[in-house]
Amino acid sequence: MKEVIIAKDSDELNKVAAERFISIAQNALRKKDKFTVALAGGSTPKSLYNLLASEKFRSQIDWKKVVFFFGDERNVLPDSDESNFRMANENLLKPLQISPENIFRWQTELKDAEKIAENYEETVISFFDLAENELPQFDLILLGMGEDGHTASLFPFSKALHETKRIAVVNFVKKLNTNRLTFTFPAINNTSNAIFLISGVAKAIVLKEVLEGESQPEKFPSQNVNLNNGNSFWLIDRQAAHLLK
Ligand code: 6PG
Repeated sequence: MKEVIIAKDSDELNKVAAERFISIAQNALRKKDKFTVALAGGSTPKSLYNLLASEKFRSQIDWKKVVFFFGDERNVLPDSDESNFRMANENLLKPLQISPENIFRWQTELKDAEKIAENYEETVISFFDLAENELPQFDLILLGMGEDGHTASLFPFSKALHETKRIAVVNFVKKLNTNRLTFTFPAINNTSNAIFLISGVAKAIVLKEVLEGESQPEKFPSQNVNLNNGNSFWLIDRQAAHLLK
């Protein structure tokens, strides 16, 4: 199921996203004792993380049952101001006093990008106790979308777009001239729920291409997010949505 929800502004966008996060978590925790979520990086989710850690939301689920992963990471140390882990740690994990054993970040202190990706893939495989070629099924993945249509660190025309087996890989991003670390589409599309959080007028042109344009998944990688049998929620503010039909 794919649902597009347009919020009047970024405050309402974050409120809707927080409510959706909580209801997906509450549903999952009715059936099992752990809720697995892969967080998004970048800047948009920061205010959502603050809201989830606020009085209004922090009491709505038992955060001790939530296990955190990261959909992608920059090849920087965890205390770098570029680090997706650091942003989430400062705005969500520390404020909620999440125990370290429930936080699985990319071990970028391993320095070598391939080693970091293999290590993270091993971490995911052992957490989910996966068999050979089996994919993890996160309860939720949060995703952003760049102005070029990338999501996670799956950038236009980059090698990782074609990965069909691996869960976590290195992805060289030509325009940034750097290695990024990212879940692959097989891993992303096996999740039970995905929330895309898209805000601001700068995303409007690419969002119209992604949602209403012809299928060009190499050029607009966010088009590749088609869950195998999950629910995807595209939460968009009016500024980003203003060109949509
Ligand atoms: C990252 C993110 C990336 C992000 C988009 C949108 O590592 O930067 O995972 O995929 O979600 O680039 O970023 P903004 O939300 O900052 O626009």
